Amino acid sequence: MNDIQTQDDLYLLVEAFYKKLLADESISYIFTEVVKIKLEEHLPILVTFWSQAILGTGGYTNNLTQIHLDVNAKEHLSPELFTIWLDHFYTTVDENFKGSKAEQIKTQALNIATVMQIKIANQ
Ligand code: HEM
Repeated sequence: MNDIQTQDDLYLLVEAFYKKLLADESISYIFTEVVKIKLEEHLPILVTFWSQAILGTGGYTNNLTQIHLDVNAKEHLSPELFTIWLDHFYTTVDENFKGSKAEQIKTQALNIATVMQIKIANQ
């Protein structure tokens, strides 16, 4: 199994990850009802975000925390939802990649999820 090396790898990762999120009705409603995401627009944004975070490419300029505070204002993003999100993320990484970038992306996801939850709790 290879490590994450390219933006194509990240595309494969986020596509497989969203397949899991959207198949799990305990969280899918956030993406289909609360915010109606368009996958063909959403997935490339996720790739840009993760490419900046772990491949050092840059290009992501949105305010990620504010975007999630806005989602939370519509429907509470509970600790349970964060646990479900992280579980699917870790599983998707582990099913497809192995190596230092694969470890790094999981650690970063946990760190970002932790910061988001603190900001949500302090609202
Ligand atoms: C309970 C957990 C989470 C839920 C339910 C959730 C849900 C969402 C939703 C509905 C959007 C679309 C917002 C919009 O377009 O208006 C979004 C965007 C996004 N999420 Fe999350 N999210 C969660 C956690 C995270 C975490 C922990 C990360 C990163 C580690 C993350 C990364 C992103 C990125 C990169 C975008 C794209 C933002 C943009 O358009 O610039 N999310 N999320």
